[in-house]
Amino acid sequence: MSVKRVMFVCLGNICRSPLAHAVFQEMVNERGLEDHYSVQSSGTCAYHAGEPADSRMRKTALGRGIKINHKARQIFRYDLEEYDYIFAMDKNNYQNIRRLTTNEDLLKNVFMFRQFDPLTPGDVPDPYYGGQSGFDDVYDIVDRTCSHILDLLEEDKI
Ligand code: 4NP
Repeated sequence: MSVKRVMFVCLGNICRSPLAHAVFQEMVNERGLEDHYSVQSSGTCAYHAGEPADSRMRKTALGRGIKINHKARQIFRYDLEEYDYIFAMDKNNYQNIRRLTTNEDLLKNVFMFRQFDPLTPGDVPDPYYGGQSGFDDVYDIVDRTCSHILDLLEEDKI
């Protein structure tokens, strides 16, 4: 059985991508697919490396029953070789990930996360400088998009 290795990437790895990581892992667990997926998240910058997720993001997630237990880490070139599916939270993240390699085969594994949003494509908005409601909006986007991504992965459609 092959394991699908999935990584979610934002800027700081303290708000959007650790949420996607925790939500997606929970969906994998609920469907009994723990042995089929390896899930991780990272950030394109190292500013927050080693820090836990932002307390506002953890609060929103906990309110929806999701515990985020992650220490921020930066993405490196070798992650592109390690992970089969890399989902960028916004287009800056996408471009910065793509700058890590010129290998076309590896670049094929890099996607815009909201390309798979069943409602609207675009960026997952950066909630860092806003209020708690921005974190709630991010949760809704991440929840429905992770669910769709898992459906598509299970159907071998990504
Ligand atoms: P994230 O949010 O990329 O979703 O983790 C941010 C975290 C930190 C900063 C910006 C966005 N920052 O400027 O430090």
